[in-house]
Amino acid sequence: MSNHTTRHLGNKIVLIGAGDVGIAYAFALINQGICEELAIIDIDQKKTTGNVMDLNHGVVWASGPTNVTVGTYDDCTDAAMVVICAGAAQKPGETRLQLVDKNITILTSIINEVMTHDFDGIFLIASNPVDILTYATWKISGLPKERVIGSGTILDSARFRSMLGDMYDVAPTSIHAYIIGEHGDSELPVLSSATVGGVSMRKMLEKDPELHGRLEKVFEETRDAAYTIINAKGSTSFGIGMGLARITRAILHNHNVVLPVSAYLNGEYGEDDIYIGTPALVNRSGIQRVIELEMDQHETDRMKASAAQLRAIKDRFYGPHADHQTTT
Ligand SMILES: NC(=O)c1ccc[n+]([C@@H]2O[C@H](COP(=O)([O-])OP(=O)(O)OC[C@H]3O[C@@H](n4cnc5c(N)ncnc54)[C@H](O)[C@@H]3O)[C@@H](O)[C@H]2O)c1
Repeated sequence: MSNHTTRHLGNKIVLIGAGDVGIAYAFALINQGICEELAIIDIDQKKTTGNVMDLNHGVVWASGPTNVTVGTYDDCTDAAMVVICAGAAQKPGETRLQLVDKNITILTSIINEVMTHDFDGIFLIASNPVDILTYATWKISGLPKERVIGSGTILDSARFRSMLGDMYDVAPTSIHAYIIGEHGDSELPVLSSATVGGVSMRKMLEKDPELHGRLEKVFEETRDAAYTIINAKGSTSFGIGMGLARITRAILHNHNVVLPVSAYLNGEYGEDDIYIGTPALVNRSGIQRVIELEMDQHETDRMKASAAQLRAIKDRFYGPHADHQTTT
């Protein structure tokens, strides 16, 4: 493990932004007993005080003890992870990319404050547009790319597996299928390397050409699920809360597991200098390596288009070339 000093090897988490997403994440953390200390920072102090009281009362019945506190930026100094869920959320009909101007301003002030407090752990970003904000966090913080991670397509991949599970009447845990690319409208499913109960989806598609149309429909429902949920209840929270908890568990408990996250590309998929959704090996040092999926030409073209869209926005804020050291 590189670049870690011992004070950051505990399992304290600082959560910044405790709205619908942040609180769903906090609830998943305490329920699963993932960390011993959870400090919550939000500009709405009153609401945070209430949430912290409420969560501590729930800890009594959790699988392990978690000390939940109203945090300050001083908490970042010895934190293992800082998790960002602060910022504006999508309104009905609004795309994630349309949030970029508001949220990059909020994020910049938060990351500067965290780094002023000598943070040297792992950042996990959920605020949207997550791939752009994760890139911004890496640039502003100066931390190695391995220790800046976005939630990427963890939620989209879970949605896809859940919907495929319904279609095939198989538990989603027996389905391996990734959504990659932007966490947003240009994302794509990688059917070439997907399996249902160990059976290759590529082979299934070769045998049944009509399957393609049915799977594309499942993908469209996956991609548009956030719009459907936001129209129905105003925000999406439980799915991403559980996804963030899964990434956190993989990091703090050194799981060495492959998860779809937003990771920095350094030549993988023929791209560099962007953060984008891809499977990656996640452990206590953060992103151990990016996994490049086998894809057909159509999938490769879609990934290129998604990367180009993110790159155009990233370049608007940070220019076309990274001048930041990316290696640990
Ligand atoms: N990555 C994903 O898969 C995913 C899924 C759902 C939502 N999101 C994103 O997560 C973010 C939060 O969504 P939400 O539904 O919880 O929104 P929300 O409005 O319920 O919560 C946002 C919280 O951020 C706080 N906040 C704002 N500025 C702050 C600052 N400077 N410091 C500390 N706290 C601050 C607000 O007080 C509020 O409590 C949005 O950007 C949303 O698009 C991401």
